[in-house]
Amino acid sequence: MSKKELEDTPTSREEIIRCQEDITFDRVWSMPTKNTFEIDAIHDLIVFEISQSEGIWIDPFSGGTSYADITNDLNPDINSDKTLKAIEFLRQFDDNEVDGGVLFDPPYSARQVAECYDYIGFDVTKQMTQTTFWSNLKNEIERICASGSTVISCSWNSNGIGKGNGFKKEHILIVAHGAWHNDTIVTVEKRVVSNLSEYDSTPSKS
Ligand SMILES: C[S@@+](CC[C@H](N)C(=O)[O-])C[C@H]1O[C@@H](n2cnc3c(N)ncnc32)[C@H](O)[C@@H]1O
Repeated sequence: MSKKELEDTPTSREEIIRCQEDITFDRVWSMPTKNTFEIDAIHDLIVFEISQSEGIWIDPFSGGTSYADITNDLNPDINSDKTLKAIEFLRQFDDNEVDGGVLFDPPYSARQVAECYDYIGFDVTKQMTQTTFWSNLKNEIERICASGSTVISCSWNSNGIGKGNGFKKEHILIVAHGAWHNDTIVTVEKRVVSNLSEYDSTPSKS
């Protein structure tokens, strides 16, 4: 290593992470389960966030366990208010109508999307499992969420709905599942601008 490189060596974690955001991070361990919201730490986080707001909460992928006021799941075997494709469910809400928040726990991979469609009996096309599956959902969530509302996203990534859609990250909970399983990453974001044109410049998407 040259003298110049040594002089440039960071001397603290803050120097290594040059682009810090004010986000709370937690990490816990739990057994893996398909019912994400039954994991104690995730259940507690959701119940806490919902208790902080009197507005309406919706869940487009409610599965077997949901704490939202209005639930949807494409699988007719699952007890939910609506049995629609999530994108159609979200399109039913007016601009800025959702003032509590969204529980966003979609399939985590193209394979999981295909498995669900296949189980329901839909023909699975390549287009159905492209990344636009998730970006179209995020665009609808951006449209329907009121300023101050909350989105809790569960995924294998921490992107959430994103800065580019007017959301600010507040809390990231990493749930490790041991062995070589992917973590479940829970991202809590607040809607900070109700109109994207309030941004002066184009923000990065995540
Ligand atoms: C990760 S699970 C949600 C689990 C739920 N949060 C829980 O804790 O029980 C995803 C759910 O989305 C449903 N699903 C998959 N694709 C869908 C789609 N395009 N529209 C609506 N629901 C869908 C599946 O049937 C499944 O119940």
